[in-house]
Amino acid sequence: MPKDSLSITDNRTGTQYEVPIQDGAIRASDLRQVKVGDDGAGLMSYDPGYVNTAPCRSAISFIDGDKGVLRYRGYPIEQLAEHSSFLETAYLLLHGELPSAAALDGWIREITHHTFIHENIKKFIDGFHHDAHPMGVLVSTVAALSTFYPEAKNIHDEASRRMQIIRLIAKTPTLAAFAHRHAVGMPYAYPDNDLSYSGNFLNMMFLTTEVKYVPNPTLQRALDVLFILHADHEQNCSTSAMRNVGSSNADPYSCTAAAAAALYGPLHGGANEEVLRMLRAIGAKDRIPAYIERVKRGELRLMGFGHRIYKSYDPRATIIKRVADQVFDVTGKNPLIDIAIELERIALQDDYFVSRKLYPNVDFYSGIIYEAMRIPVDMFPVLFAIGRTPGWLAQWQEMLLDKEQRIARPRQIYVGPAKRDYVPIEQRG
Ligand code: ACO
Repeated sequence: MPKDSLSITDNRTGTQYEVPIQDGAIRASDLRQVKVGDDGAGLMSYDPGYVNTAPCRSAISFIDGDKGVLRYRGYPIEQLAEHSSFLETAYLLLHGELPSAAALDGWIREITHHTFIHENIKKFIDGFHHDAHPMGVLVSTVAALSTFYPEAKNIHDEASRRMQIIRLIAKTPTLAAFAHRHAVGMPYAYPDNDLSYSGNFLNMMFLTTEVKYVPNPTLQRALDVLFILHADHEQNCSTSAMRNVGSSNADPYSCTAAAAAALYGPLHGGANEEVLRMLRAIGAKDRIPAYIERVKRGELRLMGFGHRIYKSYDPRATIIKRVADQVFDVTGKNPLIDIAIELERIALQDDYFVSRKLYPNVDFYSGIIYEAMRIPVDMFPVLFAIGRTPGWLAQWQEMLLDKEQRIARPRQIYVGPAKRDYVPIEQRG
């Protein structure tokens, strides 16, 4: 009997099967041979929420959830946050290797020169209500980009793919900042090619009457680090949406819009927004114990806590806590940080959180930094989307180049009524 195999005995029939194990997994399709009589489809695996299903092989990011490890293409997130820039990290995610100095220069130049959006996109943004959530605006305008670049449908053409990837990374911050300017009734601030990726985003967000916006270097770097920390995270909900939609060969703008829509939800990228609302609702340190009791009674979730994969500290949260101190040196301390630190301290001593391995995730502290930088709360998930765009695109491209991938089409266990005949309306009780 081969060592790398799983022996299965079907106790319904007494039949034995040998299923190969590769890379710690069996192929779900190998279960189809496990049948009773003429049961056509064979045995399925039932996995709501895909908690134990690997739909792909990926070489992009690696997570060890028990040890709190995250690496992009093998490089520890701590080292990238310390030494890399967001655009260099984006290159790494997409190309698999860190760029040479010349390649990085070329990459930055290309992204920088594609930051402008077609003027007609502004008309879409103008059409949104003043209090439209910027994430809704982002999802819609990213999807709309596909109509401006119909050649994006050529997903099997490497040059076309590359061009759409550059456009998406370049234009997402512009769409995001324009959504914000629309919400606050400010004229759109156009991209400034002299600035860095993050510096330009701050320019498009905050330029007022000055001739040239000069970003604060600490805040610019903090934002860049936050983008790096959000750049990829293996097969999370939005990345799975990107791959699922991409598996039907949809263009990358439509796929990215779908991924951003998945990110919008409060259990995923919307959590940073919810954390801020939660900290404001708590309002003072002495109200934390009562809040925790409500969480334990199941009335509320502690937003920014818990993760499907991390069962110890999220390494990104550790880095963000350090970035927060640097930002507060410039902006002054956000008083919510004291509530957050105390909340974390109390929760991590409480058996409810300890026994369920619930630790702060990336979203617990990011919102406090964004708020200190004067970024409105409803922009938080939008910033997450900017950071995650290179990861989505790297995963999309990997999926397209993976010969094993097919259109995503999971199975189901049907639990509805058996066949029955249509009843005319006058005969229905
Ligand atoms: N507060 C209180 N209890 C929680 C929390 C929380 N934040 N998260 C999980 N639990 C509890 C659940 O009630 C459950 O308890 P039970 O076993 O008594 O029923 C147990 O911990 C396991 O929780 P699940 O929901 O099964 O865990 P799952 O892996 O499905 O969910 C998730 C992970 C969605 C992140 C969850 O922890 C959560 O809702 N957290 C709050 C939202 C959040 O911060 N999301 C951001 C995630 S990071 C990101 O997307 C970038």
